Amino acid sequence: MLIDGFGRRINYIRVSVTERCNFRCQYCMPEKPFSWVPKENLLSFEELFLFLKVGIDEGVDKIRITGGEPLLRADLDRFIKMINDYKSDIDIAITTNGYLLKETAKRLKDAGLKRLNISLDSLKPEVAKQIAQKDVLHNVLEGIEESLEIGLKVKINSVPLKGINDDEIVDLLEYSKKRGVQIRFIEYMENVHANKNLKGLYGKEIVDEVRKKYIVKKVGREGSSPAFLYELEDGYRFGIIDPHKHDFCESCNRIRLTAEGHIIPCLYFDEAMSIADAVKKGDVEAASEVLREVIKNKPEKNRWDENLNQEDISARAFYETGG
Ligand code: 5AD
Ligand code: SF4
Repeated sequence: MLIDGFGRRINYIRVSVTERCNFRCQYCMPEKPFSWVPKENLLSFEELFLFLKVGIDEGVDKIRITGGEPLLRADLDRFIKMINDYKSDIDIAITTNGYLLKETAKRLKDAGLKRLNISLDSLKPEVAKQIAQKDVLHNVLEGIEESLEIGLKVKINSVPLKGINDDEIVDLLEYSKKRGVQIRFIEYMENVHANKNLKGLYGKEIVDEVRKKYIVKKVGREGSSPAFLYELEDGYRFGIIDPHKHDFCESCNRIRLTAEGHIIPCLYFDEAMSIADAVKKGDVEAASEVLREVIKNKPEKNRWDENLNQEDISARAFYETGG
C-alpha cells in the first residue's frame, strides 16, 4: 500500500503519454512551447507500463491517461489493453480535448477504456476557436456524441473565463444535462504558460451564475474527487473544481507521471523525481524506490489561493501534467 507523509492513501495515478497537443488553449499553451521534449525522451508504453505495474501491485486501482492530448499517440488502445490485460478491474479513464474521438472512441472502448473526460469550454464555434486557437467545436461535439453512442461514460470539463465564455455557464450546463452527463466547471489555475490577460472565475461566482436561473443545492464532495457537487431541483448534479480553496488536498489520493518519466506529487509544485532510468533498464526495484520517495514527500496542499502573488504563480505546464 502507498501511504504518504500525511496519512493519505495513494491509489490513483495520472499518466501523461505526450505533452504535445493539437489545440493551443489560452489557459494552457497559447503558443507552441519554445522546445518540446525531444521524441526520444518520451517513454514507450512498455516503460510507462512497467511503472504502472509497480503502482498497481501496491494497490493503485485508478489510472487516468492524459496529455497534452493523449489521442495524439496513435496506438493508445494498445496501452489501455496492456493495463486492462494486467488487471481488468482497474478504473481506466482518459482526459481528452475530444477532437480525435469520433474515429478512436470505439477502439479505445474495445481495449478496456471505461470513462472519458472531455473538455468543452463553449458551444459557440467562434468562442471555442478563440479559446483553443483552432476551429474545434464541430469535431469535439461529434466526439462526445460518438462516445455516448457506444456507451462510454462521459464527463465534461469546462474552464470559465471572464469576458470570454462566462456567459455560457448555464448553456454548457443545460447541454450536459440534456445528454445525461455531468459537467464540472474548473477554476482557471494561474500558470506562467497561460495567456497573461486571462481571468478566471472562482467557484462561488460560477455557482452564482447558475443560481440566476436555477435553485441550486450543495451536495458535497464525492470520495476523493476534487469536484464539489451541486444539485438542481430536478436532481441533476454538476461539479465545481476549486483548487483555490484547497479543501480537497486533505483527501488527495493521486500522483502524476509525465511522458518523460517524472513523478509529480502535487500539480502545483515544480519538484519531481525521474523514473526514466529505472524503467529503461527494466529495474522494477529502482522504480519502486523512487515512487516511495516521492510519496513520502508529497506536499500537504497546493498553493493556489485567493491572494495569489505574482511570484507564486506555478511554473508547471498543464500540457506536461495533463491538468
Ligand atoms: N486551469 C484550469 N484548468 C485547466 N486545464 C488545463 N489548463 C488549465 C488551467 N490553467 C484543464 C482543461 C482540461 C484538463 C486537461 O485540464 O480544461 O479539461
Ligand atoms: Fe491541449 Fe488540453 Fe492544453 Fe488545451 S488544455 S492546449 S487541449 S493540453
